[in-house]
Amino acid sequence: MTDVHLRNLYKTYPGGSAPATKDVSLDIADGEFMVLLGPSGCGKTTLLRMLAGLELPDSGQIVVGGRDVTYLPPKDRNLSMVFQSYAVFPHRKVRDNIGFGLTMRGTDRAEVARKVAWAAELLQLEPYLDRYPAQLSGGQRQRVAVARAIVVDADVLLMDEPLSNLDSLLRLTFRAELKKLVEEIGTTTVYVTHDQSEALSLGDRVAVLRSGEIAQCAQPLHVYDNPADRFVGGFLGSPPMNFLTTRLAAGDGPKVTADLGKQIVEGPATLRPHDGKPVLLGIRAEAVEIAHTRQGDAVRATVKVFEPLGSAVLVTAEIDGQEIKVQAPNTFRAATGDQVWLTFPSRHTRWYDAETELALEAA
Ligand SMILES: Nc1ncnc2c1ncn2[C@@H]1O[C@H](COP(=O)(O)OP(=O)(O)O)[C@@H](O)[C@H]1O
Ligand SMILES: [Mg+2]
Repeated sequence: MTDVHLRNLYKTYPGGSAPATKDVSLDIADGEFMVLLGPSGCGKTTLLRMLAGLELPDSGQIVVGGRDVTYLPPKDRNLSMVFQSYAVFPHRKVRDNIGFGLTMRGTDRAEVARKVAWAAELLQLEPYLDRYPAQLSGGQRQRVAVARAIVVDADVLLMDEPLSNLDSLLRLTFRAELKKLVEEIGTTTVYVTHDQSEALSLGDRVAVLRSGEIAQCAQPLHVYDNPADRFVGGFLGSPPMNFLTTRLAAGDGPKVTADLGKQIVEGPATLRPHDGKPVLLGIRAEAVEIAHTRQGDAVRATVKVFEPLGSAVLVTAEIDGQEIKVQAPNTFRAATGDQVWLTFPSRHTRWYDAETELALEAA
């Protein structure tokens, strides 16, 4: 039973002007795959290194499997870590690289051989066991690093951008394999990435970090559909979520309306307390409905760019000076300068305070 609890972790590096992590608290369940997602420099690696014992927090607590490990050295934590670069020993064969951690712990040779065979099979490394790392591709070398991390029966598996040095096709393949592997072994995993598609694909939950703080932590699709703020909606998803500046009309009709390019979009009654205030309307590109003719209370827009993506088309349009991205079925056609009509289905619209950029409804 290895749950992980990070409690109010603060860390500022010597000479650092701002904290690398600031009051980070996170509860990770036994067997959970937790992704730490955020832009470069937001504190992901610092958090992982504190968990591993490679950095000490200034304050706060780290509890792993019920044990306070905050100030324990790495060797007393029973965690294993996979880094971004292929940290394999060039002068050892693949089999000895995989078994290295076990051999160091004094595990007997038969047991080492058994576990190496198990990991090699899981990671499809059996044909390469007697090769040296230089005779492997980048993807195979990173598999060796993962194999070495899983054979030691660590309580928690820590991975810091393990796919980022692989080319894009290999990254997709390895991502799916990694997901299957971790589901199979069931070890609690903390996985760091700046790649939002990896976070969506792999995580049981995703903690989105900004400037050393957790902006939101929830299941990937919940975060995708209900970003807690503009930063999260912009970071998760490709293209990023659209945010349009508008103002809620103060009226006493049954519906709340927002003014968009002198046109009207309906909002939920829960927005009533914000009547008259500037707000942001958030909507995903694929949730906007687009047509060449006026439909119901659609909003008029002008096409700026039309891009076929293959499985869909991406239209960049403008509403009264504001840009919006619309992802339409790949049968939709448009050209620059076309007038189109956009509908914002209310089940897909999200509303944000224009100043704080925080969600107005509970996310
Ligand atoms: N060893 C270090 N010494 C000083 N500052 C550091 C050190 N490591 C990281 N930082 C700073 O701490 C912040 C967080 O870095 P890091 O945890 O590496 O972010 P990420 O992994 O999300 O890119 C950054 O501002 C970075 O410059
Ligand atoms: Mg990092």
